[in-house]
Amino acid sequence: TRNFTVLAFESSADDTCAAVVTSSREILSNVVIKQHDLHEGYGGIHPMIAIEAHQRNLPIAVKRALKEANVSVAKDIDGIAFTRGPGIGGCLSVGSNAAKTLAAALDLPIVGVHHMQAHALTPLLTSWPNPPKFPFLTLLVSGGHTLLLLATSLTSFRILATTPDESIGRSFDKVSRMLGLKWTAFGPGAALEQFAGQQWDADLPDIGNFPRPLRGKLGFSYASLHSFVERCIAAKQGIQNIDEGFKLALARGFQTAAVAHLEEKLLLAFEWCAQNKIHVQDVVVSGGVASNSYLRERLAECLKTVDTTVPISLSFPPPSLCTDNAVMIAWASMHRFLARDHDEYTIGLRPKWSI
Ligand code: KG4
Ligand code: ZN
Repeated sequence: TRNFTVLAFESSADDTCAAVVTSSREILSNVVIKQHDLHEGYGGIHPMIAIEAHQRNLPIAVKRALKEANVSVAKDIDGIAFTRGPGIGGCLSVGSNAAKTLAAALDLPIVGVHHMQAHALTPLLTSWPNPPKFPFLTLLVSGGHTLLLLATSLTSFRILATTPDESIGRSFDKVSRMLGLKWTAFGPGAALEQFAGQQWDADLPDIGNFPRPLRGKLGFSYASLHSFVERCIAAKQGIQNIDEGFKLALARGFQTAAVAHLEEKLLLAFEWCAQNKIHVQDVVVSGGVASNSYLRERLAECLKTVDTTVPISLSFPPPSLCTDNAVMIAWASMHRFLARDHDEYTIGLRPKWSI
């Protein structure tokens, strides 16, 4: 097949992204302009602020993506992909309008991509030449998502577990802030991991047992875990009255419980697959929280207990391609471009879009 070059935009939440990727798996550029500092203090993404930031940043991101890739949009780009959903409607519209207008002006085909499918298909790009084989399980653990997906083909996915309340990443962030941990460029979650992993020779105080939400069920719930920490702190009348050993017990207890929750659900997913005669050999774990080394160790251990004929292979795509990015959007559009299965310029957005 011919080499096809895609320019892709992603603007479904708070990152403005543009990238250039080819069908021979070359990532020519990957530009991400973050805006989390703008949303600090709103307890989430503020839609109007996010829309304005996308409007300001998208032209800059596109210009940089083309320059870094050293391509001319008129000569070298064969198609334009964008995130069609799910996401914040106003945010999605910034990327999709830009994509459609540019495509119309240049007479190029467009493909609108499902954001979650793009996350799920990333390992087919990043684990080349040994990509996971369908059907595979992917666990997406980030600030935005806590999701366990079964991918059975390039176009068919099934959500096995998701969360109705807080994501695992935000839960780590909240506990880290409650404990008053100082954090660096890697963020509050990474600070919690570092604090919990410190050397400590004395005994730790007993803080009681963390809850085990949705026990035996395929679903995630993190709110009760950080609420438990909140109650422990409140019982001592505030973090200022808590000594280092107690803080450490809370941090370790939380990290252990948060990861145990993932282990339990992953094993349940394997049971579900076995009952449905689906033979899974590959597990992919992605998202910001997947950089946690305790999590990596625990998941590797837990997969050893699964009853299979061949050992399960566990992989972690590089963090830069696990967080929101336009490379995954370009990659997820590629099989459609190659099959000439394009969308119309009139295609609408899907802010809510099941997988
Ligand atoms: O995928 P990601 O970078 O972007 C969003 O979805 O926002 O995920 C960020 C999340 C944050 O909540 C961050 O605290 C968490 O991932 N995180 C971690 C670690 N590194 C990042 N959580 C636990 N342990 C880590 N080492
Ligand atoms: Zn995402």
